[in-house]
Amino acid sequence: MKEYDFVVIGSGIAGLTFALKAATHGSVAVITKRKGADSNTAWAQGGIACVTSDEDSFELHVQDTLEAGAGLCDEAAVRTIVMEGPARVRELVELGLHFDDREVSGHREPDLGREGGHSKRRVLHVQDVTGLEIEKTLLRELDRSPRVELLENHMAVDLITAGKVGFAAEDRCLGVYVLDERIGEVETIRTDRLILATGGCGKVYLYTTNPDIATGDGVAMAWRAGAVIANMEFIQFHPTCLFHPKAKSFLVSEAVRGEGGILRNSRGEDFMNRYHQQGSLAPRDIVARAIDAEIKRSGAHCVFLDITHRSPEFLQERFPHIYETCLRFGIDMAKRPIPVVPAAHYQCGGIKTDVNGATSLPGLYAIGEVACNGLHGANRLASNSLLEGLVVAHHACEALVREQPTSHAARAISLPEWESGDVQNVDELVVIYHNWDEIRRLMWDYVGIVRTSKRLQRASARLRNLQREIREFYWNFKISVDLLELRNLATVAALIVDSALSRKESRGLHFTLDYPELSDRRFKRDTLISRT
Ligand code: SIN
Repeated sequence: MKEYDFVVIGSGIAGLTFALKAATHGSVAVITKRKGADSNTAWAQGGIACVTSDEDSFELHVQDTLEAGAGLCDEAAVRTIVMEGPARVRELVELGLHFDDREVSGHREPDLGREGGHSKRRVLHVQDVTGLEIEKTLLRELDRSPRVELLENHMAVDLITAGKVGFAAEDRCLGVYVLDERIGEVETIRTDRLILATGGCGKVYLYTTNPDIATGDGVAMAWRAGAVIANMEFIQFHPTCLFHPKAKSFLVSEAVRGEGGILRNSRGEDFMNRYHQQGSLAPRDIVARAIDAEIKRSGAHCVFLDITHRSPEFLQERFPHIYETCLRFGIDMAKRPIPVVPAAHYQCGGIKTDVNGATSLPGLYAIGEVACNGLHGANRLASNSLLEGLVVAHHACEALVREQPTSHAARAISLPEWESGDVQNVDELVVIYHNWDEIRRLMWDYVGIVRTSKRLQRASARLRNLQREIREFYWNFKISVDLLELRNLATVAALIVDSALSRKESRGLHFTLDYPELSDRRFKRDTLISRT
């Protein structure tokens, strides 16, 4: 059995930042399903929202975040994250990350981007590949850190808790079972401090801007371990994912609208002005619903993002990744509007934590998209998530170092080895793939941008059946990454549906035709679910 002072699951901005900081206090393992750089962070285009300009203020950033969050943000968490942002961003710069800047009256200033819901330009970026550059910077640093072991192609199966091994008097997290995908064996890893930084669950929907790894693993494992889960009904749909039969999950950054891009319907109309005074730069939930309505009304497959009024030189310099990707699909964005559709983008709920990442289960922390610490409320403000990853990772490390050591009784518990029930490989892979597709399609059709109680109930019934089938597979066959991901997807899908069914109002990202109004009196509170 391996043992580490800290075990981090996930290798995006939150997980890697935490690992680098924790390495000054002890041994660290970073467990990641594929390669180190395979994370949502690496796909982030927009940048980091952070107050750096004299024309901006912490108060404005706080107010924009609260406004987007539609009454469900934790204001203290918002203030902490916004106000500590500049210090944490400086640390990234010290590691060698260079944000885009420009010349202003003889000196260099950050070239700040603008995105929906922000009252000021405040998004630090590296062209349109900010996340990738952050990921490279952090991984380079990790490589130099002798106390961090990066375990690639390792997938966490389940958390080991004192309760599960028969020590219910002091339930806490004691470690994790991990599948080493290269050899198909499950290892037991012991730790007193386990940090989930596994990102979100975009793959639960048929159309998503997320990479394949986003299968809700952290939320599903935490739920199985008895931790409290919050606000899973609030799934953010990004308004502009490239619409092309061969383009898989390609985001067209909101920064394109920040630089003047206009959304047009199939008749060429600038339709967003009919929905919101901020037009194409309205908050994301409003834009996504407006596009959904335009598409449904006209029967068209998509709408169009028009930035043809900007010069090709500007577009190539500011958006090289988007420009080249569109070109590969035969779309020259300088000459014709880009076809776009909304797609699942971000999980605003997650494992309930405080601003330090502490969950309801001692020894278990959650940071980044997998966590719900009160920053996003019912709708995340664009580009707040990379900021959150940096700040909360720092807090989590400080909090864990201050924590009391685990009791002698808990340390004395011996952890059982993983028992592989039946050693057969899954006999019919088609069942796994079919169930995977069925979940993603039913979530898209029944639990999407606009919901109804009837559709949610239908989704709930179908998911219960699928979960039964998946359980049978799980216990009867040798586990694999595909099977584990399917099991996690099904769990997270059910949590989204149950949460959505319990919120009988419309707020932020949760919009239902049966309860189209906001009801502060009954629902200005988090939706909490736990297994225990
Ligand atoms: C984008 O670039 O549009 C995405 C930014 C974000 O989701 O925060």
